Amino acid sequence: MRLGSSPSQRWRRGLTAVTALALGTTGIVVAASQASAAAGCRVTYSVNQWSTGFTGNLTVTNLGDPITNGWNLTWTWAGNQQVTQGWNGDFSQSGTAVTVRNPSWATSLGTNASVTPGFQATFSGTNTAPTSFSLNGTVCTGAAGPTGSPTGDPGSPTPGPTTPTPGPTGNPGSKVDNPYVGAQGYVNPEWKAKAESVAGGNRISNQPTAVWLDRIAAIEGTEGSSSNGSMGVRDHLDAALAQGAGYIQFVIYNLPGRDCAALASNGELGPTELPKYKAQYIDPIAAIQADPKYRNLRIINIIEIDSLPNLVTNVDGAAGTEMCRTMKANNGYVDGVGYALAKLGPIANVYNYIDAAHHGWIGWDTNFGPSATLFAQAANASGSTVNNVHGFITNTANYSALKEPFFNAGTTVNGQSVRQSKWVDWNFYVDELSFAQAFRTELVAKGFRSDIGMLIDTSRNGWGGPDRPTAASTSTDVNTFVNESRVDRRIHAGNWCNQSGAGLGERPKAAPEPGIDAYVWVKPPGESDGSSELIPNTEGKGFDRMCDPTYTGNARNGNNPSGALPNAPISGAFFPAQLTELMNNAYPAL
Ligand code: BGC
Repeated sequence: MRLGSSPSQRWRRGLTAVTALALGTTGIVVAASQASAAAGCRVTYSVNQWSTGFTGNLTVTNLGDPITNGWNLTWTWAGNQQVTQGWNGDFSQSGTAVTVRNPSWATSLGTNASVTPGFQATFSGTNTAPTSFSLNGTVCTGAAGPTGSPTGDPGSPTPGPTTPTPGPTGNPGSKVDNPYVGAQGYVNPEWKAKAESVAGGNRISNQPTAVWLDRIAAIEGTEGSSSNGSMGVRDHLDAALAQGAGYIQFVIYNLPGRDCAALASNGELGPTELPKYKAQYIDPIAAIQADPKYRNLRIINIIEIDSLPNLVTNVDGAAGTEMCRTMKANNGYVDGVGYALAKLGPIANVYNYIDAAHHGWIGWDTNFGPSATLFAQAANASGSTVNNVHGFITNTANYSALKEPFFNAGTTVNGQSVRQSKWVDWNFYVDELSFAQAFRTELVAKGFRSDIGMLIDTSRNGWGGPDRPTAASTSTDVNTFVNESRVDRRIHAGNWCNQSGAGLGERPKAAPEPGIDAYVWVKPPGESDGSSELIPNTEGKGFDRMCDPTYTGNARNGNNPSGALPNAPISGAFFPAQLTELMNNAYPAL
């Protein structure tokens, strides 16, 4: 996950080419006047390329004396490549000569330390890789020069070990920091066709959406299922290769006793069927994802939404349910999530992101810390470790606004904090971005790796259209102020089913904010959250009255109306009227 600036554009491209070049030239030139000349260096260079452009990623390793007063890397293009944007370094280009200087806050580069600048560029014709790079004027041969001697014995010109070491499954290289950067997302053709069946749907149908593996049969592909398509995991992976996609997103969603605090997405496995989950669901998925045929695809797994947070908030008290108590007592969610992580995490090109609810669920400190603690417990269960966790996702299939532009948790109105308004209800967060960034810090404090990244599902949290406020309210009453200022137009932040008035949110985007790996569309827009009345089905899906527009609520939504759209099909089934509304209320507008 990248904290600095980075490319957010998503480009179409026809080809993924990842190469590590051993840069071998014999002449080493050392400028004697340079106090921190690198007497040896190694550069690996890889590109992700499409017809008119590419992203380039470099790893520059100083094999010489420590550099303390700044570094620069230079190369010359053979063709008409033009850098348009860079990160992890200040890029400039003059003619065909490119210079990357250290960011102002990072002037040092110790012996054997590396930096990883990257960039986007345009080109036409042939995109030939540079054959020579220089660090502080020294041509990088991959060989260490003698340290302590700025006068420059060239040392051995043998190229260094620039070939990536095979990963545990024979896949090349190790995981990248942010799998979304510089990669084109897989467009699920089954969702695309559904989107295009609605007027205007072709404006969004090329967006990458996640593939939900919501039952064992979805692994092989299910013919004639009412709520999901017929392509199996291999079909999707093969289609992703054919598209030249760089990443593909799956939702791992089939825990025993699934969706324990609601009924709309109850699954096929009963509360004691953890062994079946492991053997018939996770193991076959892991076997397919580990197939070397797919090694160049970044496979992103969203792990078990709406599971662990339910054990924090929906076990005790008025909000508690029998099924959540059962799943807490038998440890099925914790062991199941740990097993999924342990099986999928070691695959070199697989990236696991655990579901972390949303601000309107675990934003209170009574839930915030305990959720992070429970996630750490699950990440260390069933033989897993935190190394199997690349990050977390918030707001999956939910509607929480990404940013409330007109107030934050610190805003006061007439001496009263917005936190005491009915809408915010003492939550410490008022929107998803601030929550996701803060929760990331909490997770690291609870033992997760410091380089984890967050995803935010922005498929349906746009809240545009005519009802979107355009300025902060001038009211001095805190409730009126919040209600007139908030862009999230739900009746209550606990409402989650087919929300009336919602719009498409930010389009999928890599590295949009510090700490955030990507905005993603995990819930495919236009797929229902649950039926608005009982619809018998063979998928285990129940009828949850939170999807019934006439329902007046329960303890989990403060006994408010559900805010759900009428005439909805069962969860996962296509709901064209909802897609039309989501497009009409998109923010940013389409
Ligand atoms: C459903 C799944 C469906 C998913 C994506 C969930 O609510 O339970 O069956 O695949 O939504 O639409």
